[in-house]
Amino acid sequence: MQVTSHSLLEMTPVMPVVQITDAEQAVPIAHALRKGGIAMLEIVMRTPVSLEAIRRIRAEVPDVIVGAGTVTDVAKLEAAVDAGCEFVITPGLTRTMAEASQGLSMPMVPGVSCASDIMLGLEYGFTAFKFFPAESSGGISALKALAAPFSQATFCPTGGIGPHNLVDYLSLECVSCVGGSWLTPVALQRRNAWSEITELTQQAVNTVNSLAL
Ligand code: 3PG
Repeated sequence: MQVTSHSLLEMTPVMPVVQITDAEQAVPIAHALRKGGIAMLEIVMRTPVSLEAIRRIRAEVPDVIVGAGTVTDVAKLEAAVDAGCEFVITPGLTRTMAEASQGLSMPMVPGVSCASDIMLGLEYGFTAFKFFPAESSGGISALKALAAPFSQATFCPTGGIGPHNLVDYLSLECVSCVGGSWLTPVALQRRNAWSEITELTQQAVNTVNSLAL
């Protein structure tokens, strides 16, 4: 079955947004997340080792789905695809990126923060969006208002999400997944604190599971 951007977001309640500064840490981070119950992650294309991190996870942790985030232009998109990413997330949406995505053989989740962004995305066939930056763009109340005219759209709010507001966002009908960097803080990466990353992941999964009861 082909994974769409819509179904991708339904596969995990939290999309870990991971900034890797040392390629050696990519594989242990993927293992730590999976051990905690999340088998997917977005590597942001913001460091010189992002592509290498994607390559390593793809080659060495086949049961974790690895995507590229912060894909802001076509050159980054092509580089991420060449590195083996399995999905693409962008912080915003331009016509150039929307057109480039049409030939992609993997899901892309474009970022939106206003109605015009969503309308542009819908014109190109997108129905799953990253709502970014979620908290700075007005948070839950803004997302509710934005989602109302677009019943076909689902959103992955990202930016300012953490244990304090995870449940509030996931309670919205238009949200099946939230994104965030809180599971893999750089401070823990620097200390190789993989069990703490697993613990943070387990806590998030437990919170989500208790919501489902
Ligand atoms: C992103 O790129 O998606 C955001 O920077 C993640 O935001 P957060 O660090 O507030 O979770």
